[in-house]
Amino acid sequence: MSSSFFSMLFLFLAMTLACMCTSTISLSSSSSSSLMVGFYQQTCPSAEEIVRNVVNNAVTRNPGLGAGLIRMHFHDCFVRGCDASILLDSTLENPSEKENIANNPSMRGYEVIDEAKKQLEAQCPQVVSCADIIAFAARDSASKLGGINYGVESGRRDGRVSLKDDPTQNLPPPFFNLNQLKENFERKGLSLEEMVILSGAHSIGVSHCSSFTQRLYSFNATHPQDPSMDPRFASMLKSKCLNNSPNNVDPTVLQDFVTPNRLDNKYYQNLQNKRGLLTSDQTLVTSPETANMVRNYGGRSSDWANKFAKAMVHMGSIEVLTGIEGEIRKNCRIVN
Ligand code: HEM
Ligand SMILES: *[C@@H]1O[C@H](CO)[C@@H](O)[C@H](O)[C@H]1NC(C)=O
Repeated sequence: MSSSFFSMLFLFLAMTLACMCTSTISLSSSSSSSLMVGFYQQTCPSAEEIVRNVVNNAVTRNPGLGAGLIRMHFHDCFVRGCDASILLDSTLENPSEKENIANNPSMRGYEVIDEAKKQLEAQCPQVVSCADIIAFAARDSASKLGGINYGVESGRRDGRVSLKDDPTQNLPPPFFNLNQLKENFERKGLSLEEMVILSGAHSIGVSHCSSFTQRLYSFNATHPQDPSMDPRFASMLKSKCLNNSPNNVDPTVLQDFVTPNRLDNKYYQNLQNKRGLLTSDQTLVTSPETANMVRNYGGRSSDWANKFAKAMVHMGSIEVLTGIEGEIRKNCRIVN
């Protein structure tokens, strides 16, 4: 009898604890909703305009920087949340995220963030976080390269940790199949559909040959070439990406040969034509689960663009630091 009493008591305590935990979790995860559009309206009214001007100048000179900045937001948010950990330089004791193969040598746009930060520090010292600068810069790039405009929720704060190995466990490599991509995005709170929508960012920028040469020369034991790729497209890629080229020779090719500097839904049409560059691209149309999404977004550009904007905002809220968490860096490359 007393044992059943104790088990009842235990059950009651466990349930109470579970309730407390749940409410704590929902409280702490709602810190992401404490981001708000126009966060700097009082403290640094020209913040977004400063970033926009710097980004516009840079992207006008080199559209590839716009691709880099959109990708930078993704690589920042998936690793320790959107906390600008991607911007920290390595120190003697600590190699940072920048050294990971996911970012080195392919990530571009660091200098654009530096320039924006320099101008912001002159105007409003230690007010605007580096994490917010990345989020603004990604939006301004999407606006310039795709006419995609949206309000960026801000109020993120900067982290103090950046580890070389973190991207490996958190960013999807180009050879992932649909289930692996799905699982990777779901771990960050993003849906399968958001994964498909955000992959549309591959309608701009470039990829190094090493990210997809396996599809051209060593697919599997019976098929040297990936049968899900248009053979004419493969031939063209082979002329740019030679087999067994020396390690230090790794050319780049355009990710979208149709409209290379336009952030648009041509990406999905390319996939339907078996002209996706990466395994992670082509799997979106070879997998029954997502084939219809590709067909829809290939056909309706404004539908895709609206959803891309929403998905970028959602991605921008992943595990953010707010309030008194983290810090506002003086220099985006160094912790205070
Ligand atoms: C779905 C999983 C994804 C995988 C596996 C993936 C992988 C890659 C790879 C391998 C490259 C080429 C890097 C190189 O070799 O130079 C690349 C480029 C790029 N990615 Fe992704 N990516 C994914 C999702 C995303 C997302 C969600 C975004 C942004 C919303 C994004 C934006 C970009 C952009 C803009 C480029 C071109 C960068 C440049 O030209 O500098 N990617 N991605
Ligand atoms: C190679 O890939 C093709 C096409 O995906 C497949 O049909 C075949 O079974 C694979 N062969 C081996 C040995 O894995």
